[in-house]
Amino acid sequence: MAGGVRHSGYSILMQLKHLGVLTSGGDAPGMNAAIRAVVRTANYEGIKTSVVYRGYQGLIDGDIAEVGPRAVANIIQRGGTMLRTARCDAFLTPEGRATAAARLREHEVDALVVIGGDGSLQGAGLLQQEQGIRVIGLPGTIDNDVYGTDVTIGFNTAMNVAVDAIDRLRDTAASHDRIFLVEVMGRNSGHIALNVGVAVGAEAILIPEQRPSVDQVAEALVAAAERGKQSSIVVVAEGAFEGGSMELQRQIEDIAHQEVRTSILGHMQRGGTPTTRDRVLASRLGFVAVHRLKEGASNVMIGVDRRGSSLVPLQELGRRHKDIDWKLLEIARVLAT
Ligand code: ADP
Ligand code: F6P
Repeated sequence: MAGGVRHSGYSILMQLKHLGVLTSGGDAPGMNAAIRAVVRTANYEGIKTSVVYRGYQGLIDGDIAEVGPRAVANIIQRGGTMLRTARCDAFLTPEGRATAAARLREHEVDALVVIGGDGSLQGAGLLQQEQGIRVIGLPGTIDNDVYGTDVTIGFNTAMNVAVDAIDRLRDTAASHDRIFLVEVMGRNSGHIALNVGVAVGAEAILIPEQRPSVDQVAEALVAAAERGKQSSIVVVAEGAFEGGSMELQRQIEDIAHQEVRTSILGHMQRGGTPTTRDRVLASRLGFVAVHRLKEGASNVMIGVDRRGSSLVPLQELGRRHKDIDWKLLEIARVLAT
């Protein structure tokens, strides 16, 4: 296999002298803490570090600079990513990935740490497979939709932002006897909606993995009103309803004959100060990534579960899908009665 990687994620030990790091895909709070952890750990271990700006696009363009530990000062508390990020169509092609690899070789970078979501990490896997560049991925996305890890960098912050916003909306919903639809992020996955829905005591939760009909949602809201509930919160993942939340509002109003308001939280959830949990997670993952690379691991993502960190082969990401916690959906339904 290209790069000489065995399934365990470890290859014959190659000396690691120079490390690259980039962020790709949607930004997520905590990415800066991860960059800082990679740069500082590498420096501590006597490994040079170069940062790549603007994700894979910057890599193809050769937007690469060597940095020292002071370059990542005062970023642990900041949202976004100091390296900036991008979506890059060229990297979707083998030719684009060959150019990216050539740029790394020109800068004598031995291995690359990619911080990003499912797509970015699959791309990193291809870079290793096709070009033999040693890569390690760190899961960074607010959506938490990455297979092989319980949590991703940014998920906790995004949930807390959404919960805080919905608690405020609940005040107005209760004061006016209204139904509030709150759209949270998650184009293809309901992890945010589900957890946030439980945390705010939502009367209904709509996720892309289980698309209830409008009739079912409206029925649930009418039933809640009949049980004496004067207001309701419905948490809707952005990808859960074909026509979007405004159309959902219109249809529910028609059926339930109650006043409905919609609030789309959108990118609010992606920015801002990372929570303690995200900072600690990102710091741990960045530290572990450098150590695993040094030990010879590559072509893997560092995942986390109850037992600690684990190595997840990057090729698994395209093949397997992270399911949502269905039990949580049942808990939400029962607790909303
Ligand atoms: P995320 O990493 O947050 O899931 P995207 O899916 O938008 O975000 O991916 C970010 C970038 O990663 C893409 O613009 C592309 O450059 C690269 N990428 C995504 N999917 C793949 C893939 N299957 N193969 C190669 N590169 C990919
Ligand atoms: O970061 C993931 C995500 O927030 C999705 O939930 C959302 O659909 C998408 O990014 C939107 O990203 P952008 O506006 O950058 O295209």
